[in-house]
Amino acid sequence: MSIQIATIGIIGSGVMGTGITQIALQSNHQVYLYDAKDGAAQMAAEKLQATLNKLVEKNKITAESAQQALANLVVAARLDELKNCDLVIEAIVENLSVKQELLKQLEALVPENTIIASNTSSLSITAIASQSQHPERIAGYHFFNPVPLMKVVEVIPGIRTQPEIVSRLVNLSYKMGHRPVVAKDTPGFIINHTGRAYGTESLKILNENVANIHEIDRILKQNLGFKMGPFELLDLTGLDVSHPVMESVYEQYYQEPRYRPNVLTKQMLTAKQLGRKTGQGFYRYEAGQKLDEQPAIRVEKLAEYPAVWIAADFEADRQALTDYLNTHQISIDTQDYPAADSLILVASYGEDTSSSIQRLNLDATRTVAIDLINGLNVHRTLMPSLITQEKLSQAAHSIFNLDGNSVSVIQESVGFVAQRVIAMVINLACDIAQQGVATVDDINAAVRLGLGYSHGPISWGDVLGPAKILLILERMTQITADPRYRPSPWLQRRVKLNQSLTFTA
Ligand code: NAI
Repeated sequence: MSIQIATIGIIGSGVMGTGITQIALQSNHQVYLYDAKDGAAQMAAEKLQATLNKLVEKNKITAESAQQALANLVVAARLDELKNCDLVIEAIVENLSVKQELLKQLEALVPENTIIASNTSSLSITAIASQSQHPERIAGYHFFNPVPLMKVVEVIPGIRTQPEIVSRLVNLSYKMGHRPVVAKDTPGFIINHTGRAYGTESLKILNENVANIHEIDRILKQNLGFKMGPFELLDLTGLDVSHPVMESVYEQYYQEPRYRPNVLTKQMLTAKQLGRKTGQGFYRYEAGQKLDEQPAIRVEKLAEYPAVWIAADFEADRQALTDYLNTHQISIDTQDYPAADSLILVASYGEDTSSSIQRLNLDATRTVAIDLINGLNVHRTLMPSLITQEKLSQAAHSIFNLDGNSVSVIQESVGFVAQRVIAMVINLACDIAQQGVATVDDINAAVRLGLGYSHGPISWGDVLGPAKILLILERMTQITADPRYRPSPWLQRRVKLNQSLTFTA
């Protein structure tokens, strides 16, 4: 078996097949591109030529390298022209029986040592390979759109795939400038699996009327640094794509509550409010522009502020609040019990304001909770109780606008917005590590590169504090009695033993 993969066959010249062809050509491989539809592969070749020419114009590549790449491309008119390839990647329609049928035809043409890979995003590799003569040479090779820019690829052995096939695909990925991550053949692999938490928890928050889409998107972008808010992202992907994925992952994991989809998106799908592509999703769009922007509400500086009495789950939060209030010359009530006219500020985790009030025996009419999961130097979220006096909510809002940072005021929610979403992202990633779907390094890299999060989700847990994440999940589980929030054993053990979440024995 030749160790080097020099010649690559690509079947399906749609968006993915064309992208994979581009990176294979640009890394000096010979590519045979085939599509069942007449003229489709030729059209893709012309598109590629235009793409490479543009890269030359922008001085990203030299004219010689573009020429060399195009000289290495063969547009195949028939499938049997791919018979001498070292590797054949299929990127055809996402349909199990069509893919199985193609593999049968392919196996009749290529020698036994040809590697066969599937770019499927949602089908089981074991199932795709199950009708084949040689399932041991078949693997998943899952790229992301747009392939040249999304520098990560999941390499997925089916149950019967030989380990050597995996290492050869891993080596090829590096040559093509992509970070390979090896995933067990499980629903969603790594990236589409970890990505479930962001959307589903945000939908649940919206469904509970904790805040509107503008505030939820704002909190997650400005507090936690996500590049797109969950509702902006759902609108971009389109609910015709994302709702079925939510349902399918949920069903494939036998109705695991962590992946539970939401009735909201089902309704919108039925009403064909799909997102950007229909001009209406969570937001409205005109000529590609999002309409109805709602900037954060600011409360002007007040003539007078009440003194602030602080309760905090963590000493560092108490200190951060004390420093902030001192900087802005707001007096702090340091008595053991709050004075009758003090504003009570609670830096709490994993509970709603009512639960903090009950736990700490506070006056509900004067209490406002604040989310410090990502510190104080970012957008803040405040959560008054059902019966907090409006003037005290306004005072708290104004205090946290004093340094120019923005504030969202939300309805009571067990665990604010940012805490809930990030705890779910981290917990799911810990559980993926627990199940051995991939290594911690690969989970972190896959999510940074594939979902564009600022940190890998397991490392993110270390940055925010594993004990805080566990506390959020434990309290949420206790208060809501929803098993969706139960902490992963991976997380629990590392907190109990005071170890980093990335620790592996
Ligand atoms: P596409 O619809 O753009 O292209 C599919 C191409 O395959 C078409 O040109 C079609 O003529 C051709 N084709 C269909 N059946 C064929 C057959 N039996 N033999 C040869 N050619 C055939 O699809 P796209 O988006 O490129 O997806 C391809 C695969 O990649 C699917 O398995 C999809 O799930 C997966 N994928 C798609 C991503 C995306 O964002 N579009 C991301 C990651 C994976």
